[in-house]
Amino acid sequence: MAASTSSIRSSLLSSPKLSGPRLSGLVSGHRAVFSIRRRSLDFPSLASLSVSLRSAPNRSTMSESAAPVVEGTPQKADSRVSTIVEVDLGNRSYPIYIGSGLLDEPDLLQRHVHGKRVLVVTNTTIAPLYLDKVIKALTHGNSNVSVESVILPDGEAYKDMETLMKIFDKAIESRMDRRCTFVALGGGVIGDMCGFAAAAFLRGVNFIQIPTTLMAQVDSSVGGKTGINHPLGKNLIGAFYQPQSVLIDTDTLITLPDRELASGIAEVVKYGLIRDADFFEWQEKNMQGLLGRDPSALAYAIKRSCENKAEVVALDEKESGLRATLNLGHTFGHAIETGFGYGQWLHGEAVAAGMVMAVDMSRRLGWIDGTIVKRVLDILQKAKLPTEPPEMMTVEKFRTAMAVDKKVADGLLRLILLKGPLGNCVFTGDYDRKALDDTLHAFCKS
Ligand SMILES: NC(=O)c1ccc[n+]([C@@H]2O[C@H](COP(=O)([O-])OP(=O)(O)OC[C@H]3O[C@@H](n4cnc5c(N)ncnc54)[C@H](O)[C@@H]3O)[C@@H](O)[C@H]2O)c1
Ligand SMILES: [Zn+2]
Repeated sequence: MAASTSSIRSSLLSSPKLSGPRLSGLVSGHRAVFSIRRRSLDFPSLASLSVSLRSAPNRSTMSESAAPVVEGTPQKADSRVSTIVEVDLGNRSYPIYIGSGLLDEPDLLQRHVHGKRVLVVTNTTIAPLYLDKVIKALTHGNSNVSVESVILPDGEAYKDMETLMKIFDKAIESRMDRRCTFVALGGGVIGDMCGFAAAAFLRGVNFIQIPTTLMAQVDSSVGGKTGINHPLGKNLIGAFYQPQSVLIDTDTLITLPDRELASGIAEVVKYGLIRDADFFEWQEKNMQGLLGRDPSALAYAIKRSCENKAEVVALDEKESGLRATLNLGHTFGHAIETGFGYGQWLHGEAVAAGMVMAVDMSRRLGWIDGTIVKRVLDILQKAKLPTEPPEMMTVEKFRTAMAVDKKVADGLLRLILLKGPLGNCVFTGDYDRKALDDTLHAFCKS
């Protein structure tokens, strides 16, 4: 039986099972954010900014399908949207549709297109695989819409100003107007660049994300961080800009190379470590299924990751504190990406090694016990991700790159570190500098 997405959503939102615990989750989350904001105003020195962010027992901002994918029930072909996760941002709220075969459902895309002009931004790898399908979905039964596309070179090395200009060139040449819609079709690089272009073009046009890597489906397409790299540092130029919707067709993962899949898994592991111990335990049991691309395991991991991210973004959209925790391992990881050269290691690979370093430092500070260190190493090894930085990374290279990290405030480097039982972390500049030094020396030969 066919069920429209809107009917699924409304029936889920009214589900009594979500009402009780939902409120308490939100209230305790708000408290955490408020205390971060107050303290950062009260204390000019950000060294004092240390907030414990407990894992929320209830996922509070999502709507779930009546037949959750977790049970492993194959989805019926005519009811493809298995889940809608809502990102709750007032009048900028938007849905994340997750399911198999969603690119074959024109209505899902068309309902979020404003105006008659669409610019699809993609790259040379993804265009031959999915561009026709997306153009068909945008135009099916809708002859009013005209679609242009711009096909960028593929790779992190092209997440730069020069490539960004190609999007503006195409938009201006094709006379895109204020009511046009930009569609990002691709991984995190395309999503970040297209989103930034949408934020800046004519001071902001509509924008839809169609993420095609696991990395983009579990992380980069959600939450509105957009931007490009600078030769001196990752993602240093950008904007917060939320999409109208995110459309995740899990079938696109079929063509994704193994290494890219593993890279996305690094971010999935991150959610477990910072706020969702149950999810981490699920991953420990289901890693083989994820690596073997079991559709229901992947769909569950995507759904749970989006729920975690949506919840954090809804509470702290512009990263006053709580949202920074999504960057566990990223300060070390970005240093690896910058120091090693963009594109040498995949983002998730650098983040995996970075998480091991953050966990090592947390252990040196006495904030977590050794069993967590071992579980992190085990799960990342199972996922075939690196657990140490590349040999060329020296202590000096780490220090140079970390000095321009976006989390440096008043000259002080704030880090996300684990503290307490699994699923708890802090975002703080209040740590013993020796622990950081010891970690850097332990992981670098010189
Ligand atoms: N905005 C955010 O909040 C956020 C969060 C996490 C990561 N990021 C950014 O995302 C980027 C990494 O994203 P990524 O890992 O998706 O890398 P990517 O965009 O480079 O994609 C990885 C590779 O897979 C190819 N590809 C994409 N989809 C495919 C498919 N379905 N089949 C076959 N090949 C496919 C791409 O062409 C590319 O070669 C980094 O720049 C990182 O900074 C941003
Ligand atoms: Zn990341």
